[in-house]
Amino acid sequence: RKKVTIQALHALRQSKTPITMVTAYDYPSAVACSSSPLTDITLVGDSLAQVCLGYASTTQLTMEEMVHHAKAVARGTTHPLLVADMPYGSYYTSVSDAVANAVRLVREGRMEGLKLEGGKEIVDVVRRLTEVGIPVMAHVGLMPQRHCAMSGYKVQGKSVEGAKKLLSDALALEEAGAFAMVIEAVPQELAKYVTDRLKIPTIGIGAGPHTNGQVLVYDDLLGTWSGHKAKFVRRFGNLKGVRDQAIHAFGEAVRDGTFPDPQKESYSMDEDEWTKFI
Ligand code: KIV
Ligand code: NA
Repeated sequence: RKKVTIQALHALRQSKTPITMVTAYDYPSAVACSSSPLTDITLVGDSLAQVCLGYASTTQLTMEEMVHHAKAVARGTTHPLLVADMPYGSYYTSVSDAVANAVRLVREGRMEGLKLEGGKEIVDVVRRLTEVGIPVMAHVGLMPQRHCAMSGYKVQGKSVEGAKKLLSDALALEEAGAFAMVIEAVPQELAKYVTDRLKIPTIGIGAGPHTNGQVLVYDDLLGTWSGHKAKFVRRFGNLKGVRDQAIHAFGEAVRDGTFPDPQKESYSMDEDEWTKFI
């Protein structure tokens, strides 16, 4: 498949073809995302923090760690558009700090777009990045980088005020130049309404079937994640079972001496060489 562009994403939205986005954190997961021609976007999500690095939340992830993993994902990616999350704290201190960090993710991390969580309060940053040619994917609704301020990972926009705020944030982010928008953990009616009001594609997670696309975390969809399973996760595989079984089978085969097989899984010396040696 040809490299996916922002223009191609708009064409998918236009033709009502749902956009697919999957997260990746390293070379093998990036290769897996690229293995399907149906993957439109590979996202180096800052869920990297929990899923890959064992942190309790995304607020612990550093720029260094994101750059390191983005580089690995870029090496394994073919056609999907490459987008990374800007880590917590890397785009709030000032517009110029945000630009400097974004440039690192583009230059060193080889990212083609960057995702930022936030509403009206970040439009100056979204506008500036867009102006200097760094495509921005917005992220509204549940913003995991703000889980403390939100008192946990909860559905957003359920009240009239919440819904009004989400809509006005979405419109402001589009106006500032965002090329697409993730909507996370929002009632499906509201996600549909916002999608209909925007011209840019929306990509939902826990936002119902009416957004222009869907995203899931790699380990959630593979079924390798052993932590909490959110209501909106569907496991499309059970790789945890397969994986843990393989680790255990190796242990058993070593313990009972059936691995390695002397014929099939071992090297042998030529007999005359061996005789001279001995
Ligand atoms: O970090 C992440 O994985 C994300 C997606 C789930 C949207 O932001
Ligand atoms: Na994220």
